[in-house]
Amino acid sequence: MPGSSAKDLKTACLVTGCAGFVGSHLTEALLGLGLAVVGVDNFFSGHRRNMAGFEAHPGFSFLEKNILEPEILARAVDIRPGLAHVFHLAAIVSVPYSLAHPDEVMAVNHQASVDLFDQARARGLASFVFAGSAAEYGDCESMPLAESDAGPNTRQTSPYGRAKYLCSRHVEQAGFGSSLRFFNIYGPRQDPESPYSGVVSRFIDQGLSGRPLTVFGDGGQSRDFLFVRDSVRAYVAAAGLGRVPVLSGVFNVGTGTSTTILGLAEAVRRLTKNRAPLSFLPQREGDVRRSLAEVSRFERAAGFKAQTGLDKGLARTVAWARAQRGSA
Ligand code: UD1
Repeated sequence: MPGSSAKDLKTACLVTGCAGFVGSHLTEALLGLGLAVVGVDNFFSGHRRNMAGFEAHPGFSFLEKNILEPEILARAVDIRPGLAHVFHLAAIVSVPYSLAHPDEVMAVNHQASVDLFDQARARGLASFVFAGSAAEYGDCESMPLAESDAGPNTRQTSPYGRAKYLCSRHVEQAGFGSSLRFFNIYGPRQDPESPYSGVVSRFIDQGLSGRPLTVFGDGGQSRDFLFVRDSVRAYVAAAGLGRVPVLSGVFNVGTGTSTTILGLAEAVRRLTKNRAPLSFLPQREGDVRRSLAEVSRFERAAGFKAQTGLDKGLARTVAWARAQRGSA
């Protein structure tokens, strides 16, 4: 495990999407482990404010670039010759956007990702961890979802899901690096502003402003909600920077428990002291009814278990959102 001396800063990581919700937490954690980080972002959906805690850190270097640019890894290695690990999170993250712009999303989320992976492998880097997604399972209805439930015949419901699946498969077939299929990640810095933002960030924003929480459909649909800090622990473990050696293959990352949207709404209303009745809106097109991770593969490989339960994770996220309002 690297310490925090100047010498150890020679071991470096590339984090694409470092200004994003998850990427910014990961960058912070890697710097905290004494590693240097070269971060890449083009602010398509990330925000400079997410980098406020580390932008001036001596171990951090920033490249404002689109991942379609072919020289990113070479530039990062020029900056940090000891670059050994790649965490590839940069992507167009909106599913509806992917339906409207399939070619652009395949170019960014699939082709550019495969190119970056091939370069990392050719350079003999120590690890490559790809941000996969539960969207790779499409409308598969067998629950819980095991890694083998996404295969060549799976019908992903969006170019977003398709691109994630093709990248995961590429990684798996190469026998180098890993793809982590994350379920619904939530936590501080998740942006509630877009109509396609995650449900937790939207509910908390609505809850704190005293507005009704908007439930799409009957609220009986369920999800496996993972606190962002647990997602960061998963990245660190997969790269071999934790207690186990570097991993190879595809792994689900979730909690293995599901919560209904109504259950989530009640928890958020309680935490935010929101008294408004729920607002029921039509079911969202393409919504899956249930999503739950089968988590034993990652548990066996990395000893990984999610540590932050929903109550605690929500309380922390609400506290963060309150503080943001206080300082706005
Ligand atoms: C999540 C991912 C998406 C991925 C998909 C596939 C997020 C933000 N999105 O989508 O990238 O493709 O998993 O696994 O993690 N809801 C409401 N009210 C709201 C907002 C949402 O009731 O105001 C409901 C939705 O209808 C849905 C559930 O909450 O049933 C979760 O929605 P959302 O947070 O957008 O995530 P997913 O649709 O699961």
